[in-house]
Amino acid sequence: MTATTAAGKAVGHVTFEEVKASRPGVAEELTTLIAAEFRARVRHLAGFVSARIHLSLDGTSVVSRVEWSSEEHSRAALRDGGATLHALPERPGVVSVTTFAGEPAPGIQGPAEAGPVGVVAVVKRHVGERRDAETLARLLHASGGWKSEHPGFISATPYVSLDGATYLNYPQWVSEESFHSYMDDPRNAAGQDAIAVLETEPPEILLCALVTHIDAAPREHPPARAHSTGSLSPDTVSPLDQLRLFERKYDPGTTEILRRLPSRPRRRCLELGAGAGSMAYWLADTAPEGSVVAVDTDTGYLDPDRAGNLTVRKADITSATFAPGSFDLILARAVLEHLTDPDAMLDRALSWLAPGGWLVVEDFYFLPAADAPTAVGRSLLEAYVTRMREHGADLSWGRRLPAALARAGLTSVATRVTPAGPGQSAVDDELIALRMRQEGHTLVDGGQVTAGELDTFLGLLGTSEGRDLTALLVSAWGRRPPDPEER
Ligand SMILES: C[S@@+](CC[C@H](N)C(=O)[O-])C[C@H]1O[C@@H](n2cnc3c(N)ncnc32)[C@H](O)[C@@H]1O
Repeated sequence: MTATTAAGKAVGHVTFEEVKASRPGVAEELTTLIAAEFRARVRHLAGFVSARIHLSLDGTSVVSRVEWSSEEHSRAALRDGGATLHALPERPGVVSVTTFAGEPAPGIQGPAEAGPVGVVAVVKRHVGERRDAETLARLLHASGGWKSEHPGFISATPYVSLDGATYLNYPQWVSEESFHSYMDDPRNAAGQDAIAVLETEPPEILLCALVTHIDAAPREHPPARAHSTGSLSPDTVSPLDQLRLFERKYDPGTTEILRRLPSRPRRRCLELGAGAGSMAYWLADTAPEGSVVAVDTDTGYLDPDRAGNLTVRKADITSATFAPGSFDLILARAVLEHLTDPDAMLDRALSWLAPGGWLVVEDFYFLPAADAPTAVGRSLLEAYVTRMREHGADLSWGRRLPAALARAGLTSVATRVTPAGPGQSAVDDELIALRMRQEGHTLVDGGQVTAGELDTFLGLLGTSEGRDLTALLVSAWGRRPPDPEER
């Protein structure tokens, strides 16, 4: 059965998930977490119509009601569901998670149809079979006479579970007072005997306050692109001051790896996605007898006159061509993760590497947002990662990098990781604060976090409470085997 929302959207399938917490504080924290996940990710999924997050009046349960255009959409969402929601049963303080999935049946409207939602009830009745659940839905519909005029009554929508064994009613009132006066109305008793006869076990009734309502994100049609720029805002590269801080944080580690590479001097070097150029310049300065080619789609921050042995080339590395075996060292830092097919890029880079040459690749592996130590950290990180993914970044690629180098036939493959996140270093905090000040508004505008959450997150930077480990920069390097006669 398909119903429609006030906005005219078709609802063919609805899920209710009740998360029972060990105590009220935990439940409240869960409402924030669940709402953030819906804003950051679920509202963007195909077929999502709306979600409502409720907190039970006794403070111990969170109920999410999610409307989908069809059961297939709901199932697909469940399959690639966010880690946060999947991990709920394992979270400390969560006692149980129960799910109801069903279809809407015709309900009744009250006079306060357009009123603010004060109290809702989630009433589950267990019956023997589908026809009993449908009888309950008909009884509710038939009782609409006095209810449709009861002050403060908004509506009641019944749902029948997919297996037909559970009937769920979802009535709403504008306030607790209107709920009590409705319940105390003697006409409410009519039909209760007929209902009780159909039930196989006592009903479960949960009174809740509505915490938030989340509608589907407006459909965006981003242009197809082979890569993202590394910036939260589409179609812009990271601002120069962000790139400079990025270099300050990661140059010491990268230069240490390059210095320690054994074997032949760096003669012909290539940097892929050179950004603001610190590493290309360093290579040019430390190997004056060699040459450096720095490639980026945006070369606006690169100075071709910075060194005589430096060439700056504006090109997309997924389509640029170089002669096979023409470089002794290729470096790509925080670039491959932005490509739609980093493995294919790795193969291309390898073909440009001379026998005996070294490939050094560094990319991030983001740790699950659900494990962040604060609710606001979880919201921000989830929103950030979601936004970067929408722009084409694969933020788990770094983890697969060492295996990819070994699989590609490189030898002496080695790995090192550098932690990143709030409180990991003063530069980390500076970089995160700058990025969020410059680009955090895109997350707020996109409805993924609130302005309040962004402020709270920024306020926690530099404090012990704000400390977190959000990502690891995975550095991996390996050598193309030398030709047999060179060994
Ligand atoms: C996060 S920045 C890293 C810059 C630099 N590698 C560093 O570590 O300081 C990513 C850079 O990769 C560039 N980039 C992304 N995709 C690219 C592509 N397909 N071809 C060339 N450059 C690309 C971006 O323009 C940006 O300068």
